[in-house]
Amino acid sequence: MRLIIQPDYNRIATWTANYIARKINDAQPTAQRPYVLGLPTGSTPLGVYAILAEMNRQKLVSFEHVVTFNMDEYVGIPVNHEQSYHSFMWKNFFSKIDIHLANIHILDGNASNLEKECEEYEAKILAVGGIDLFLGGVGVDGHIAFNEPGSSLASRTRQKSLTTDTILANSRFFGNESKHVPHKALTVGVATIMDAKEVVILASGHSKARAVRHAVEESISHQWTVSAIQMHPKGVLVVDEEACDELMVGTYKYFLDIEKGNI
Ligand code: GLP
Repeated sequence: MRLIIQPDYNRIATWTANYIARKINDAQPTAQRPYVLGLPTGSTPLGVYAILAEMNRQKLVSFEHVVTFNMDEYVGIPVNHEQSYHSFMWKNFFSKIDIHLANIHILDGNASNLEKECEEYEAKILAVGGIDLFLGGVGVDGHIAFNEPGSSLASRTRQKSLTTDTILANSRFFGNESKHVPHKALTVGVATIMDAKEVVILASGHSKARAVRHAVEESISHQWTVSAIQMHPKGVLVVDEEACDELMVGTYKYFLDIEKGNI
């Protein structure tokens, strides 16, 4: 696993946007052989989306032959609700880039048969040849997508109940009213994420320091689903200084040292 330590949030966003743009450009995607991205919501990826959109405007990267699969979506709120992940992605990214509508995939949290919706999502990922790079954030309790503590590390796309911690954390987007936060979501599984050819997880700020410690220094555990990245052959964790607050000094120095001069 690579641990990329950056001074602050803006540098995390810049490093990651450049990394993704380079991967897309190197792949030289075509309509027949698109580049496939897994994408998250949350506040952490916002900087990455803004920089990628600007790079797209400057023609430094194109999303014309990029296919996307979002990680998760709430169950039971209208697609056009301002806090649905459909709205989030459209507002913060898709409306600003040259992606084809048909190439965007987001789980439908209002599908009449949610189980079927999840099975079909996995099938669609397989049909395009799998995900090349899955970008993710992490919850304070170490969850990736909505794979809350105790989620199977072999899990696939399915419906999950959100923990009280996550409902409270996400209430900031719902006028600080936890009663307005949906209690269920559809989410890709830990194994769905780990099947991607590359996994890039972002963590910013002191509140994520415990999750980063579990991802880097502790054992792999379903209690901290982000720790599954240790099993990935190409896992990258991109963090800022504050998110390193709980790492041992030796760990921190070790990763700074081995990443010296790398891009
Ligand atoms: C939600 C999302 C996750 C995200 C997490 C952290 O639970 N389902 O994908 O990583 O929030 O969000 P933030 O980046 O806002 O801290």
